Amino acid sequence: MREYQLLIDGKFVPAADGKTFESVNPFTAEPVARVARGQKADVDKAVAAARKAFDEGPWPRMSGEERSRILKGIAEKIEAASADLVALMIEESGSTYRKAKGEVWLSGKNMGYFAKLANRDFTRPIESLSKPGVSRNLIAREPVGMCAQIIPWNFPLQMAIWKLGPALAAGNTVVLKPAEETPAMAMELAKIIADSELPAGVVNVITGYGEEAGAALAEHPGVDKIAFTGSTEIGKKLMGEASRDLKRVTLELGGKSANIVLADADLEMAVDGALYGAFFHSGQCCTAGTRLFVQDEIYDRFIELFTQKAKTIRLGNPADKGTDLGPLVSRKQQERVLSYIATGKKEGARCILGGTAPDSGELKAGYFVEPTIFVDVDNGMAIAQEEIFGPVVSVLRFKTEEEAIQLANQSKYGLAGAVWSQDAEKAMRVARKLRTGTVWINEYHLISEKAPFGGYKQSGLGRELGEDALEEYTEIKHIHVDEIGDRSKKFWYDSVVSPTPQPA
Ligand code: NAI
Ligand code: MG
Repeated sequence: MREYQLLIDGKFVPAADGKTFESVNPFTAEPVARVARGQKADVDKAVAAARKAFDEGPWPRMSGEERSRILKGIAEKIEAASADLVALMIEESGSTYRKAKGEVWLSGKNMGYFAKLANRDFTRPIESLSKPGVSRNLIAREPVGMCAQIIPWNFPLQMAIWKLGPALAAGNTVVLKPAEETPAMAMELAKIIADSELPAGVVNVITGYGEEAGAALAEHPGVDKIAFTGSTEIGKKLMGEASRDLKRVTLELGGKSANIVLADADLEMAVDGALYGAFFHSGQCCTAGTRLFVQDEIYDRFIELFTQKAKTIRLGNPADKGTDLGPLVSRKQQERVLSYIATGKKEGARCILGGTAPDSGELKAGYFVEPTIFVDVDNGMAIAQEEIFGPVVSVLRFKTEEEAIQLANQSKYGLAGAVWSQDAEKAMRVARKLRTGTVWINEYHLISEKAPFGGYKQSGLGRELGEDALEEYTEIKHIHVDEIGDRSKKFWYDSVVSPTPQPA
């Protein structure tokens, strides 16, 4: 079994009290790794190291070019380690081979993008204000400081990169707290970081439980910013926590995305898009298209095709290249999803596929849930309003474009969504009316590191990826360089030092 310690100030060390815990393979229910169980004392040390690395440098004051080179080195090391990272991701998170392979590849690519962004001039003149002989005015963007980054288990490597990439590109230092379900993944990244040219203390990684290490980190007065991805419930709690010291906050939270199929859609393509939207990674995606809106005229035909195709989804060992759907990450997540399915049935929705956990053959030990389709769903039901985070889709029927938009927006969430139509103008009209941070037209789940990603409403605050992500990790400083030499023309608010009333 793999073993890992905490990364603090460039060194791997055990937890202060020597405690450990295990991560579990969701396919076999066997342990994968034993890791340190970080708590407040460890968090204190990690924050002190990151604080020192920020306050004393050199990282925040290094040239963008130098930071860029070091981050590029990390991206290359991720690429070089990809075979082992893919294998571990499958083992520890139940990700299928294709998902794991894609995620590791994207992680290296995303880090490469942030490495490039690091190499830029973070200052710009304010042209409209600057005037020779009067003043020169600059806007400088400077790192926020020491960032606490708390991430989930569904994309354990990519979530780490989305957080570390922009923070490091802008010159911040970090304490990263991975999810308790996937600590080994984070520690493999920690090994890559420790082996890079990044100065000691710039990135510290504390494995442990949310209510222990996570809470201690969020509460710490030495933290300048909290960046979090996970449940809306914990996101709200952390935002409250942050208010005490007015820590900066970015949150990427839950979703209940609407996938809208209009009658003029390419039907087969929309069916595939709906399957991918709802069931990719067993539905454990914040962007999952879990509310599937289908227009009246095509509803029956669509449901027939969609169900037919959903029946061909192969559940199995996530390491097998032919497996479409792996287990959920944990027993807890499996139980959570099954309880939502029970609620849906109680609420009067009709379950036309799946609905149970397979309990025979090679699927017996794993935390599987069958692909599940509910029809006759009312948008007010819990299964249409709450994030389930499993392979469960709620299908809703609509008559008009206006009705689809109205129902889609009837949600506390606003993360993503999609529109399927062959009428470009109509699709754009609907896309613009959805109150969400991302909308795909005739696609699903496609995310680029060059485009901002984040939520409206209770799906979050701030944006990750793109240049917008970098802005979230910088403070804005205005520098006024005065060029007026005549003392009597300055300080014009004050009658004592500047007796001449101004402006003239
Ligand atoms: P969670 O929000 O409890 O956990 C996410 C991260 O926050 C983990 O690293 C965890 O250790 C940490 N955490 C938990 N409690 C904390 C606290 N009091 N203080 C500081 N950190 C804390 O999510 P969980 O329990 O893993 O999953 C529950 C539900 O959350 C899922 O069913 C899903 O609906 C949603 N979720 C959404 C994600 C997304 O990508 N937006 C990712 C993971 C979960
Ligand atoms: Mg939780």
